[in-house]
Amino acid sequence: MPTNLNMECLKATTSLALLCMYIFSPQVSAFSLTNCTVSGALNNTEELKVLCYKMGFYTVPSPIPSNARFIDMSFNFFSNIRAGDFEDLWNLRGFNLSNGNISQIEDGTAKHFPNLIKLNLAYNKLKTVSRGLLDGLVNLQVLRLDGNLIESIDEFAFKTLRSLIILNLTENNLRQIANVRPVLLSPSLEELLIGSNKFDVFNSCDLSRTALSLIKIDLSYNPLSKFQITENIFPNLDYLDLSHCGRNGTMLWNITDKTFLNSVKALNLTAVDMPEEDLTAVLQNITWASLFKLRLSELKWMKPKTLLQSGCLPGLKVLRLQRNRISKPTAQMLDPCSNLTELDFGENVISAVSASIFKKLTQLQKLYLQVNKLTKVNNSLQNLLMLEFLDLSRNSISELTCTDFANLAQLNTLYLYSNKISKIFQCVFKDLNNLELLRLGTNKLLTIDVAFQQGLPSLKHLQLTYNKLSKISKESFKSLSSLRTLDLGDNQIFEIEAHAFSGLTNLTDMLLYSNMITSKTIKDPAVFSGMPNLKSLDLRTNIIHYDKDKLQDPPFLNLGSLNILSIHSQRQGFGKIPSNLLQGLTSLTMFYGGRMNLNNLHPDTFKSTPNLWFLDLSKNVFTDDDSITAEVFHPIPKLSRLIISSAQIHSLNFLINANLSRLLTLRAPENKLDVINQTLIQSLPHLTYLDLQKNTFTCDCNNAFFINWALTRNYTQVIYLNRYTCSYPLSLRGKSILDMNVESCNVNIDFIMFVVSSVVVMLTLLGSFICQFLHWQVLYAYYLFLAFLYDSKRKQMHQQHGFKYDAFISYNAQDEPWVVEELIPNLEDEQGWRLCLHHRDFEPGRSIIDNIMDGIYSSRKTVCVITHKYLRSTWCSKEIQMANFRLFDEKKDVLVLIFLEDIPTCQLSPYYQMRKLVKKKTYLKWPKHGEDTRVFWQKLRMALETKGGPKDEKALLAGHGEHDLL
Ligand SMILES: *[C@@H]1O[C@H](CO)[C@@H](O)[C@H](O)[C@H]1NC(C)=O
Ligand SMILES: *[C@@H]1O[C@H](CO)[C@@H](O)[C@H](O)[C@H]1NC(C)=O
Ligand SMILES: *[C@@H]1O[C@H](CO)[C@@H](O)[C@H](O)[C@H]1NC(C)=O
Ligand SMILES: *[C@@H]1O[C@H](CO)[C@@H](O)[C@H](O)[C@H]1NC(C)=O
Repeated sequence: MPTNLNMECLKATTSLALLCMYIFSPQVSAFSLTNCTVSGALNNTEELKVLCYKMGFYTVPSPIPSNARFIDMSFNFFSNIRAGDFEDLWNLRGFNLSNGNISQIEDGTAKHFPNLIKLNLAYNKLKTVSRGLLDGLVNLQVLRLDGNLIESIDEFAFKTLRSLIILNLTENNLRQIANVRPVLLSPSLEELLIGSNKFDVFNSCDLSRTALSLIKIDLSYNPLSKFQITENIFPNLDYLDLSHCGRNGTMLWNITDKTFLNSVKALNLTAVDMPEEDLTAVLQNITWASLFKLRLSELKWMKPKTLLQSGCLPGLKVLRLQRNRISKPTAQMLDPCSNLTELDFGENVISAVSASIFKKLTQLQKLYLQVNKLTKVNNSLQNLLMLEFLDLSRNSISELTCTDFANLAQLNTLYLYSNKISKIFQCVFKDLNNLELLRLGTNKLLTIDVAFQQGLPSLKHLQLTYNKLSKISKESFKSLSSLRTLDLGDNQIFEIEAHAFSGLTNLTDMLLYSNMITSKTIKDPAVFSGMPNLKSLDLRTNIIHYDKDKLQDPPFLNLGSLNILSIHSQRQGFGKIPSNLLQGLTSLTMFYGGRMNLNNLHPDTFKSTPNLWFLDLSKNVFTDDDSITAEVFHPIPKLSRLIISSAQIHSLNFLINANLSRLLTLRAPENKLDVINQTLIQSLPHLTYLDLQKNTFTCDCNNAFFINWALTRNYTQVIYLNRYTCSYPLSLRGKSILDMNVESCNVNIDFIMFVVSSVVVMLTLLGSFICQFLHWQVLYAYYLFLAFLYDSKRKQMHQQHGFKYDAFISYNAQDEPWVVEELIPNLEDEQGWRLCLHHRDFEPGRSIIDNIMDGIYSSRKTVCVITHKYLRSTWCSKEIQMANFRLFDEKKDVLVLIFLEDIPTCQLSPYYQMRKLVKKKTYLKWPKHGEDTRVFWQKLRMALETKGGPKDEKALLAGHGEHDLL
């Protein structure tokens, strides 16, 4: 047997064998939480929260990590839950399935969560509570079934719910109290909420004839025509809500024994639909020993006088009379209420109050007068010596006098927001020695220069938002030494004098958002001085702008305790962050720097803030490759959260050498990231949360590692991985990156070695056997195969006639002189090729990427002019990639590489793709200065003439390949 026949035969068998191997490579088994996220790391068993809300699920998502402690699947669309949808979740304590479309839950489902404590099924479409629905929930304490269509409850549905404490059945279709009886099988039930159903009679004997453990019962919004208690079934009842009950102005009230509700402490009769006489009679008959809180709101048809006089029951401490159209309370009306500690007149039409009205209310601690028509305080509060809380918000008060709050030494909280106050005299707050919270927002204050000069030694929180302040003078808050929070947001502040905040020695939070602050306003470091404990400074949405690289006086020099700085969203763009802007902020831990229109970051930006762990740089314009460099992160090794969404970044490679070994969370959605490589992933060893949604992924083998890693890594969650889509190549655009076939990229060297050596051994044995006896048949098959290949190649050649250009030239703008002076004259004028050049042939108005795509696909070849600068440019690497796709896509090799400069292989190593190309391709080298260029042009002509088949390629390589480069 001639040896070369045997060789030919061996070659054929090997090709077929390798083909089979490719087809039968093993499938990767994927683990991922499709569409759900987990708070914290996946291996955090203690508090594993699985969040799947608002995901548009039509079926129950799976798998759920078996150690989940809390699951939120609310706001989805599934209507059926089957027992088999869940595995046993022993760790589960809380499960939110609310606001869905659930009409059916298979019996037995609940058995999978034996340790559940809280179950929320509110706002679904359940019609009944079946016997098996809740079976097995022996530890359940809180059950929400409100907002369903429940008409009936199975007799034994609550049999195993031994621990149930709170049951919410509000807003259902229950019609008879007897329907509710099954829930009383839960022996420890304390709160029963059955408001907004269709009960028309409440008769205690329909519910039970023996004493119940209930503490709270809500019957509000039921069209009750009768409320009747004939047995002492509520010995422990604490709270009874009958608001908005009654029908057509009638509700029969019948409690056969006055002592039956003796334990009730709070009674709500808001808007109860009863005639005035009946209600007064009910109130007069109440002698409940414990009652101390009564709500009689929205009873507009009652005369204020009657309301107050019948409402002020002996022993009552809290009386709420909101929305009753009360206009002029008089002393006579209020005198019976002298025991009250809390009186609520909110949302009435009171236009004037005087001291005499409140004269007898000497016990009063809380007074609500919000949303009335008061124009002044009128010294009316001088007798309320015990007052601790006063709400005067949303009136029309325009001025305050020095005596208005003179006697309120106990006052702790004062609300004056939403009035018309334009000026505050020095004396107004002078006696409020215990005031801790003062809200003065939404008034007309133009200045506060003297307002806080006297008194308020205990004030902790001062709110001055939505006024018209434009200037903060020196020492405006000098005496407020207890102040913790100062909120000056939403004013028009553009001037802050040096030492404006001095004396605020305990201030921790300063809010200056949404003002007119510029870099000039805060130029002097003395502006932010005198606040040694300031922890948080909010300067967002102002008009701060810098264009200097370095400041003479950094503004935050005196804020050594500051932890949180927010300067994001400057209205006219921040320009750039001067390299020493943050100088002095040695305690800074969180920096919010989003939406500032930044183009780059100086490497020294965070030099003074070594404790930074949170950094938000979203919504900036980091288009250039060197907008952010690794050096920026070197001073902040503690960084654990980096957020950089919508920032136009093309690559995260700046993180590779950033030494961020402690980074836990990286969020970079809505950027232009195409490849996430292995080196990057490996440089972030502690990553637990990675969000790269809405990027422009390239679906080729460059992302194979990332996809495999994301699917198999059980420590890091790559959130919503299944929503990541391919942008390139065009044929895969819009497809999920998970649809990409990564196995073919994922060759395991050991495995290959093993297979290859086995195959070689086998083939030597088998091949010689086959070739001995069957060689003619094998050869015949092989030639058929070759014929098939040739045929498809010919088809491809046919297609090539439609090209608009012979070559697309990819080059860096800086190499344009060579292209214009050497390449074009030689190729176009002398050799007659048609070239596509971006400076000349790109269609204006279309996106660059589309233009490139078009250029490459309408040219027969792509010529890359490679220099050091070319390698560093993002666009050029995109062009190379796309030309490579064509290889991938159309099985057509179109790349011609021209090296204009000497680039040793070691320098190519960061450009992984390029190195791979150079290794397997032919390339041309531009002769050194002074050398003859004719051979070069000749070779280039040959390269452009070849049609891209492997044979032609080989011919070019033989003799001409420039291997000295490798
Ligand atoms: C989770 O895994 C990481 C890395 O494997 C480890 O450092 C961490 O301690 C683990 N956490 C828990 C709660 O087991
Ligand atoms: C995940 O979400 C996407 C879009 O939000 C949806 O099309 C897909 O069906 C969801 N996956 C599952 C398993 O429901
Ligand atoms: C009960 O349901 C009502 C109506 O959905 C809701 O407003 C209320 O907060 C719920 N209360 C509890 C304790 O769940
Ligand atoms: C109550 O009013 C409804 C309609 O408003 C009416 O259909 C019904 O007959 C009235 N019931 C009584 C008892 O007056």
